[in-house]
Amino acid sequence: MQKTALIQGATGGLGQALIHKVLASNAYDIVIVTARDPSRIVISDPRVRTIPLDLASDLSIAAAARFVADLTDALHLVISTAGILKNEHLQIVPEKKLAELNREALETVFSINCFGPFLWYAAIHKLFKHRERIVIATLSARVGSIGDNSLGGWHSYRASKAAQNMLTKNLSLELGRSNPNAVVVGLHPGTVDTQLSKPFQAAIPIDKLFSPEQSATYLWSVIEDLEANQTGELIAWDGQIITR
Ligand SMILES: NC(=O)c1ccc[n+]([C@@H]2O[C@H](COP(=O)([O-])OP(=O)(O)OC[C@H]3O[C@@H](n4cnc5c(N)ncnc54)[C@H](OP(=O)(O)O)[C@@H]3O)[C@@H](O)[C@H]2O)c1
Repeated sequence: MQKTALIQGATGGLGQALIHKVLASNAYDIVIVTARDPSRIVISDPRVRTIPLDLASDLSIAAAARFVADLTDALHLVISTAGILKNEHLQIVPEKKLAELNREALETVFSINCFGPFLWYAAIHKLFKHRERIVIATLSARVGSIGDNSLGGWHSYRASKAAQNMLTKNLSLELGRSNPNAVVVGLHPGTVDTQLSKPFQAAIPIDKLFSPEQSATYLWSVIEDLEANQTGELIAWDGQIITR
């Protein structure tokens, strides 16, 4: 059977770096990559197919799902990287206190970090239904761990990633019933030098800030080593399981 990988977020820092890892592995015949604006995708490889996908739009999700179904009957690797933390244009600023919560910002952050990837999975779920190894990895964040939260703040981002972690667990249980070789995980990439972290890097020691390539190298090693009994977990770049 031909092997297909699907990576969402080809114009993001980690998305781009992960696509290079997937291609370098030579493990996939078709590598489908998505972006809100595919004209910004800079990867050129005969295995790559690019499709537009905006996770905040149901119409875009439905259209992208049809494209994917036209390209393949089965997916073996699915990675989603979409994330938002701060966006001045959308008036999203990580909240320091409860009083800063507002409905519109909460809805936007949940829509991209949590609802988006899982509505996407719902739209393509038929391509998960086989009995070969399939890895579904959604980029999450350590700050989405309830057990690890000792500082507070960043309410919408933390809550959206915590909810994302629950959907990961649920999908792992559901898919595990029909495919014992399915591994569904959330991945924490470390603190990585991308657009998302730029406004928050001042306090990060230089040796704690990964380049996207460095983080993708670590994450790729985690993905390659994943075993079926790790399904449902939130796993850090160094392979450590993070308490949800
Ligand atoms: N960087 C870190 O330190 C860090 C730490 C922990 C977790 N993470 C997680 O890692 C993931 C990747 O982030 P990154 O660091 O690579 O940041 P990034 O470079 O800002 O990438 C964010 C990605 O999200 C995409 N996105 C935003 N809104 C979207 C939408 N409506 N539909 C589809 N895609 C959308 C962006 O697409 P466009 O290119 O079209 O804008 C981009 O591909 C995120 O889930 C983030 O929460 C990052």
